[in-house]
Amino acid sequence: MSRFVLISPNTDFDARVRQALAGGLPGGLQTFAFVNPANPAELFANLNQERPEVLILGPDVPVEDALRLATVFDVQLPELSVILVGEADPNFVLLAMRAGIRDILSPAADPAQIRVLLERACQSFTTRSRTSVAKQPDSARGLVIGVFSPKGGVGKTTIATNIAIGLGRVAPMGVVIVDLDLQFGDVASGLYLNPEHTVTDAVSSSASQDSLVLKAFLTVHPGNIYALCAPRTPEEADDITPQQVTRLLEQLAEQFQYVVVDTAPGLPEVGLAALEQCTDAVWVTAMDVPSIRGLRSGLEILRRLDLLPETRHVVLNMADSKSGLSVQDVEATIGAPVDVSIPRSKAVAFSTNRGVPVLQDGRKDPAVKGLKQLVDRFDPAWRATAQKKLHRRVVV
Ligand SMILES: Nc1ncnc2c1ncn2[C@@H]1O[C@H](COP(=O)(O)OP(=O)(O)OP(=O)(O)O)[C@@H](O)[C@H]1O
Ligand SMILES: [Mg+2]
Repeated sequence: MSRFVLISPNTDFDARVRQALAGGLPGGLQTFAFVNPANPAELFANLNQERPEVLILGPDVPVEDALRLATVFDVQLPELSVILVGEADPNFVLLAMRAGIRDILSPAADPAQIRVLLERACQSFTTRSRTSVAKQPDSARGLVIGVFSPKGGVGKTTIATNIAIGLGRVAPMGVVIVDLDLQFGDVASGLYLNPEHTVTDAVSSSASQDSLVLKAFLTVHPGNIYALCAPRTPEEADDITPQQVTRLLEQLAEQFQYVVVDTAPGLPEVGLAALEQCTDAVWVTAMDVPSIRGLRSGLEILRRLDLLPETRHVVLNMADSKSGLSVQDVEATIGAPVDVSIPRSKAVAFSTNRGVPVLQDGRKDPAVKGLKQLVDRFDPAWRATAQKKLHRRVVV
């Protein structure tokens, strides 16, 4: 069986890859000197229905052809790890990642370097196939996780960005975070991104008709996730309709294992449209009476309208045992158990200002524990075993 496929006419490079594999990587290599980018099906036919784990494109394959092939494979074989052999110029890296290429290898790499990269590519294949297999019983659609709260400033953006970064480890490049706080969204600043394109481009007619065009409007973040940031001005945001948001989330859920949605405070029309697309809603309250009461009223209205998604996660953020309130008080007021509690923490406030979510920089902090527990609730392995514990009492 061919675990590795190389497309390149370069026999010297082929020999180096074979040497790298002979160093202890199991599985065979099949080399094709040329694959017509207009007819990638040819490659599948030549592979006799085998599903390779790693595809190496180049050297000596024209860049446009390589990107075109990578884009097709990204859609048809999403678990496949595609490696491009070329020079890692920063502008090109971005284009390559958008096409679904997971790594870039120098044409001058020696067998030892090639081997390290192939090992990494195999690991990434295993993670991706595990998560996609685990997800299949539900449906082919990814999870759409919306983060909501009637009151502002309770930590929605902080929580949404950390969920996305945390899930980026479970499903590298299988996560997109969408900023639907269209007027004043700050996902871009929370992730230290300077996006070239925003939700405005993503709901344009060209993108809404073609998911590959849509993918080209996403911004790649170094935490192996994609981001779709809020429009640049509130005026642009006004032109976006709830129907467009519905279509956008449908498209993203077809392409990604996880779509994480940050929302504006309150329940504006765009937020309600997003809520209807969510498989999971994360409800956030801070540990103060106005935000707890706000959440109670919000949940009551949505229950009456029958708009609550099946799976609910209640998060008590900025939890503080000295606030004069207990978890029981919070639960009694909102009429639902608190599932995860995240303590007030200086590291979190600092991380917002730096644009590096706490789950990204790997520091030890009490808030990290709560955020990890929240991320675990979306891990297919956890979900399969822990449904009974979905709503377990927390202690602050
Ligand atoms: N657990 C926490 N401990 C300390 N500070 C926190 C915590 N969670 C969030 N914050 C801080 O609170 C502020 C508001 O957080 P954030 O922007 O995430 O809230 P939000 O609900 O998205 O606000 P908005 O409604 O305006 O969009 C930020 O400065 C953030 O760093
Ligand atoms: Mg916010």
